[in-house]
Amino acid sequence: MRSVLVTGSTGGIGTAIVRALLDRGDRVLAVARAVDRLPDHPDLVPIAADLSRPADLAAALPPLDRLDAVVHCAAVADVAAVTDSPAELWQRTFAVNVTAAAELTRLALPALRAARGAVVFVNQAPGLRAVPQWSAYVGSKKALTELADSLRREEKLRVTTIYPGPTATELLATVRADFGAPYEPDHCVQPATLAGYVLLALDAAPDAYLSELSVLPTP
Ligand SMILES: NC(=O)c1ccc[n+]([C@@H]2O[C@H](COP(=O)([O-])OP(=O)(O)OC[C@H]3O[C@@H](n4cnc5c(N)ncnc54)[C@H](OP(=O)(O)O)[C@@H]3O)[C@@H](O)[C@H]2O)c1
Repeated sequence: MRSVLVTGSTGGIGTAIVRALLDRGDRVLAVARAVDRLPDHPDLVPIAADLSRPADLAAALPPLDRLDAVVHCAAVADVAAVTDSPAELWQRTFAVNVTAAAELTRLALPALRAARGAVVFVNQAPGLRAVPQWSAYVGSKKALTELADSLRREEKLRVTTIYPGPTATELLATVRADFGAPYEPDHCVQPATLAGYVLLALDAAPDAYLSELSVLPTP
Protein backbone atom coordinates (compact mmCIF):
# COMPACT_ATOMS: atom_id res chain seq x y z
CA MET A 1 0.00 0.00 0.00
CA ARG A 2 1.37 3.42 -0.98
CA SER A 3 1.51 6.19 1.63
CA VAL A 4 0.96 9.80 0.62
CA LEU A 5 1.11 12.86 2.88
CA VAL A 6 -1.26 15.66 1.82
CA THR A 7 -1.46 19.21 3.19
CA GLY A 8 -4.51 21.40 2.70
CA SER A 9 -6.48 18.19 3.03
CA THR A 10 -9.67 19.98 4.16
CA GLY A 11 -9.64 22.41 1.22
CA GLY A 12 -11.47 22.22 -2.07
CA ILE A 13 -8.63 20.67 -4.07
CA GLY A 14 -7.10 18.84 -1.10
CA THR A 15 -10.38 17.09 -0.26
CA ALA A 16 -10.60 15.82 -3.83
CA ILE A 17 -6.98 14.58 -3.73
CA VAL A 18 -7.57 12.77 -0.43
CA ARG A 19 -10.75 11.18 -1.80
CA ALA A 20 -9.04 10.03 -5.01
CA LEU A 21 -6.12 8.52 -3.09
CA LEU A 22 -8.37 6.69 -0.61
CA ASP A 23 -10.65 5.45 -3.42
CA ARG A 24 -7.74 3.68 -5.09
CA GLY A 25 -6.47 2.13 -1.85
CA ASP A 26 -3.62 4.43 -0.82
CA ARG A 27 -2.89 5.32 2.79
CA VAL A 28 -3.27 9.07 3.32
CA LEU A 29 -1.50 11.08 5.99
CA ALA A 30 -3.75 14.12 6.00
CA VAL A 31 -2.37 17.34 7.47
CA ALA A 32 -5.11 19.70 8.65
CA ARG A 33 -5.69 22.25 11.35
CA ALA A 34 -9.31 21.02 11.74
CA VAL A 35 -8.90 17.24 11.67
CA ASP A 36 -12.57 16.78 12.65
CA ARG A 37 -13.42 17.85 9.07
CA LEU A 38 -11.46 14.97 7.55
CA PRO A 39 -13.35 11.90 6.33
CA ASP A 40 -13.58 8.95 8.70
CA HIS A 41 -11.65 6.23 6.85
CA PRO A 42 -9.47 3.35 8.08
CA ASP A 43 -6.64 4.31 5.71
CA LEU A 44 -6.60 7.98 6.69
CA VAL A 45 -4.12 9.13 9.35
CA PRO A 46 -5.05 12.63 10.58
CA ILE A 47 -2.16 14.92 11.46
CA ALA A 48 -3.21 18.06 13.32
CA ALA A 49 -0.94 20.96 12.45
CA ASP A 50 -1.12 24.69 11.90
CA LEU A 51 1.16 25.44 8.96
CA SER A 52 1.49 29.07 9.99
CA ARG A 53 3.87 27.70 12.66
CA PRO A 54 6.34 25.63 10.61
CA ALA A 55 8.75 25.20 13.52
CA ASP A 56 6.09 23.11 15.32
CA LEU A 57 5.76 20.60 12.46
CA ALA A 58 8.46 18.20 13.64
CA ALA A 59 6.50 17.54 16.84
CA ALA A 60 3.23 17.07 14.95
CA LEU A 61 4.41 14.35 12.57
CA PRO A 62 4.18 10.64 13.40
CA PRO A 63 7.30 8.50 12.75
CA LEU A 64 7.75 8.23 8.98
CA ASP A 65 9.65 5.16 7.75
CA ARG A 66 8.70 5.14 4.10
CA LEU A 67 6.66 7.68 2.19
CA ASP A 68 5.77 7.37 -1.48
CA ALA A 69 4.76 10.99 -1.94
CA VAL A 70 4.10 14.36 -0.36
CA VAL A 71 1.51 16.64 -1.94
CA HIS A 72 1.76 20.26 -0.80
CA CYS A 73 -1.70 21.73 -1.38
CA ALA A 74 -2.27 24.13 1.54
CA ALA A 75 -2.18 27.86 0.92
CA VAL A 76 -3.61 31.18 1.97
CA ALA A 77 -4.32 33.77 -0.71
CA ASP A 78 -5.21 37.10 0.92
CA VAL A 79 -6.05 39.88 -1.54
CA ALA A 80 -4.47 43.12 -0.31
CA ALA A 81 -2.45 45.97 -1.79
CA VAL A 82 1.05 46.52 -0.45
CA THR A 83 -0.21 49.56 1.44
CA ASP A 84 -2.70 47.34 3.26
CA SER A 85 -0.36 44.38 3.91
CA PRO A 86 1.25 44.45 7.36
CA ALA A 87 4.13 42.17 8.33
CA GLU A 88 1.69 39.63 9.80
CA LEU A 89 0.11 39.03 6.38
CA TRP A 90 3.49 38.52 4.70
CA GLN A 91 4.74 36.28 7.51
CA ARG A 92 1.58 34.12 7.57
CA THR A 93 1.47 33.84 3.78
CA PHE A 94 5.09 32.80 3.46
CA ALA A 95 4.85 30.51 6.52
CA VAL A 96 1.87 28.55 5.16
CA ASN A 97 2.70 28.69 1.45
CA VAL A 98 6.48 28.24 1.50
CA THR A 99 8.22 27.65 4.83
CA ALA A 100 5.84 24.89 5.94
CA ALA A 101 6.27 23.16 2.58
CA ALA A 102 10.06 23.36 2.91
CA GLU A 103 10.01 22.16 6.51
CA LEU A 104 7.60 19.28 5.82
CA THR A 105 9.71 18.24 2.84
CA ARG A 106 12.86 18.36 4.96
CA LEU A 107 11.26 16.24 7.68
CA ALA A 108 9.89 13.75 5.15
CA LEU A 109 13.10 13.42 3.09
CA PRO A 110 14.49 10.28 4.77
CA ALA A 111 11.15 8.49 4.25
CA LEU A 112 10.84 9.82 0.69
CA ARG A 113 14.38 8.72 -0.17
CA ALA A 114 13.59 5.24 1.18
CA ALA A 115 10.74 4.98 -1.34
CA ARG A 116 12.46 6.89 -4.18
CA GLY A 117 9.28 8.93 -3.88
CA ALA A 118 7.62 11.99 -5.33
CA VAL A 119 6.92 15.53 -4.16
CA VAL A 120 4.10 17.52 -5.73
CA PHE A 121 3.79 21.26 -5.18
CA VAL A 122 0.42 22.79 -6.03
CA ASN A 123 1.44 26.25 -7.17
CA GLN A 124 -0.65 29.11 -8.65
CA ALA A 125 -2.27 29.74 -12.02
CA PRO A 126 0.30 29.62 -14.83
CA GLY A 127 1.94 32.87 -15.89
CA LEU A 128 0.99 35.10 -12.96
CA ARG A 129 3.33 37.97 -12.19
CA ALA A 130 3.08 41.52 -10.86
CA VAL A 131 -0.57 41.14 -9.92
CA PRO A 132 -1.83 44.26 -8.11
CA GLN A 133 -3.25 43.43 -4.64
CA TRP A 134 -1.73 39.96 -4.65
CA SER A 135 1.99 40.49 -4.10
CA ALA A 136 2.30 38.31 -1.01
CA TYR A 137 0.46 35.34 -2.55
CA VAL A 138 2.12 35.55 -5.97
CA GLY A 139 5.52 36.16 -4.36
CA SER A 140 5.10 33.16 -2.09
CA LYS A 141 4.25 30.93 -5.04
CA LYS A 142 7.32 32.18 -6.94
CA ALA A 143 9.35 31.12 -3.91
CA LEU A 144 7.59 27.75 -4.00
CA THR A 145 8.74 27.30 -7.60
CA GLU A 146 12.32 27.96 -6.51
CA LEU A 147 11.97 25.45 -3.66
CA ALA A 148 10.72 22.79 -6.08
CA ASP A 149 13.41 23.51 -8.69
CA SER A 150 16.24 23.39 -6.15
CA LEU A 151 14.87 20.23 -4.54
CA ARG A 152 14.73 18.54 -7.96
CA ARG A 153 18.45 19.16 -8.45
CA GLU A 154 19.40 18.14 -4.92
CA GLU A 155 17.52 14.87 -4.48
CA LYS A 156 16.88 11.72 -6.50
CA LEU A 157 13.14 12.27 -6.24
CA ARG A 158 10.41 13.09 -8.75
CA VAL A 159 9.49 16.73 -8.06
CA THR A 160 6.45 18.12 -9.83
CA THR A 161 5.03 21.63 -9.79
CA ILE A 162 1.40 21.85 -10.85
CA TYR A 163 0.03 25.20 -12.03
CA PRO A 164 -3.78 25.04 -11.82
CA GLY A 165 -5.92 27.50 -13.66
CA PRO A 166 -9.13 28.68 -11.95
CA THR A 167 -10.51 25.75 -9.98
CA ALA A 168 -13.99 25.70 -8.43
CA THR A 169 -13.29 26.06 -4.69
CA GLU A 170 -14.14 28.40 -1.81
CA LEU A 171 -10.68 29.96 -2.16
CA LEU A 172 -11.38 31.03 -5.73
CA ALA A 173 -14.87 32.26 -4.82
CA THR A 174 -13.39 34.44 -2.06
CA VAL A 175 -10.52 35.70 -4.20
CA ARG A 176 -12.81 36.58 -7.09
CA ALA A 177 -15.18 38.43 -4.69
CA ASP A 178 -12.23 40.33 -3.20
CA PHE A 179 -11.11 41.37 -6.70
CA GLY A 180 -14.71 42.28 -7.62
CA ALA A 181 -14.63 39.69 -10.39
CA PRO A 182 -17.32 37.15 -11.24
CA TYR A 183 -16.99 33.56 -10.04
CA GLU A 184 -18.39 31.02 -12.47
CA PRO A 185 -17.66 27.55 -11.11
CA ASP A 186 -19.00 25.83 -14.22
CA HIS A 187 -16.26 27.53 -16.26
CA CYS A 188 -13.52 26.37 -13.89
CA VAL A 189 -11.46 23.22 -13.51
CA GLN A 190 -13.34 20.91 -11.15
CA PRO A 191 -11.41 19.83 -8.03
CA ALA A 192 -11.84 16.12 -8.86
CA THR A 193 -10.35 16.75 -12.30
CA LEU A 194 -7.35 18.51 -10.81
CA ALA A 195 -6.95 15.65 -8.32
CA GLY A 196 -6.80 13.32 -11.31
CA TYR A 197 -3.87 15.29 -12.72
CA VAL A 198 -2.12 15.16 -9.33
CA LEU A 199 -2.46 11.37 -9.42
CA LEU A 200 -1.15 11.40 -12.99
CA ALA A 201 1.99 13.11 -11.69
CA LEU A 202 2.28 10.59 -8.85
CA ASP A 203 1.84 7.64 -11.21
CA ALA A 204 4.73 8.43 -13.53
CA ALA A 205 6.29 5.68 -15.58
CA PRO A 206 9.59 4.31 -14.17
CA ASP A 207 11.73 6.10 -16.76
CA ALA A 208 10.14 9.57 -16.96
CA TYR A 209 7.91 11.89 -14.98
CA LEU A 210 6.12 15.26 -15.22
CA SER A 211 8.30 18.02 -13.75
CA GLU A 212 5.72 20.74 -14.48
CA LEU A 213 2.09 20.65 -15.42
CA SER A 214 -0.31 23.51 -16.24
CA VAL A 215 -4.01 22.66 -15.99
CA LEU A 216 -6.48 25.05 -17.63
CA PRO A 217 -10.28 24.96 -17.96
CA THR A 218 -11.38 23.81 -21.38
CA PRO A 219 -12.70 26.92 -23.24
N1 LIG B 1 -8.76 27.28 -6.52
C1 LIG B 1 -8.01 27.80 -7.49
O1 LIG B 1 -8.52 28.41 -8.46
C2 LIG B 1 -6.52 27.64 -7.46
C3 LIG B 1 -5.79 28.04 -8.61
C4 LIG B 1 -4.40 27.90 -8.60
C5 LIG B 1 -3.77 27.35 -7.49
N2 LIG B 1 -4.51 26.97 -6.40
C6 LIG B 1 -3.77 26.39 -5.25
O2 LIG B 1 -4.37 25.15 -4.94
C7 LIG B 1 -4.17 24.88 -3.55
C8 LIG B 1 -5.49 24.50 -2.90
O3 LIG B 1 -6.39 25.60 -3.08
P1 LIG B 1 -7.97 25.48 -2.85
O4 LIG B 1 -8.60 26.25 -3.91
O5 LIG B 1 -8.34 24.06 -2.59
O6 LIG B 1 -8.08 26.34 -1.50
P2 LIG B 1 -8.86 26.07 -0.13
O7 LIG B 1 -10.13 25.36 -0.38
O8 LIG B 1 -8.90 27.40 0.57
O9 LIG B 1 -7.86 25.11 0.63
C9 LIG B 1 -6.70 25.60 1.25
C10 LIG B 1 -6.25 24.58 2.26
O10 LIG B 1 -5.11 25.12 2.97
C11 LIG B 1 -5.34 24.94 4.35
N3 LIG B 1 -4.66 25.90 5.19
C12 LIG B 1 -4.69 27.26 5.09
N4 LIG B 1 -4.03 27.79 6.13
C13 LIG B 1 -3.58 26.75 6.89
C14 LIG B 1 -2.83 26.66 8.10
N5 LIG B 1 -2.41 27.75 8.77
N6 LIG B 1 -2.56 25.44 8.61
C15 LIG B 1 -2.99 24.33 7.97
N7 LIG B 1 -3.69 24.34 6.82
C16 LIG B 1 -3.98 25.55 6.30
C17 LIG B 1 -6.84 25.10 4.51
O11 LIG B 1 -7.23 24.61 5.77
P3 LIG B 1 -8.68 25.05 6.40
O12 LIG B 1 -9.68 24.16 5.71
O13 LIG B 1 -8.51 24.76 7.84
O14 LIG B 1 -8.85 26.51 6.08
C18 LIG B 1 -7.32 24.28 3.32
O15 LIG B 1 -7.30 22.91 3.64
C19 LIG B 1 -3.52 26.13 -2.97
O16 LIG B 1 -2.13 25.92 -2.90
C20 LIG B 1 -3.83 27.21 -3.99
O17 LIG B 1 -2.86 28.23 -4.00
C21 LIG B 1 -5.85 27.10 -6.37
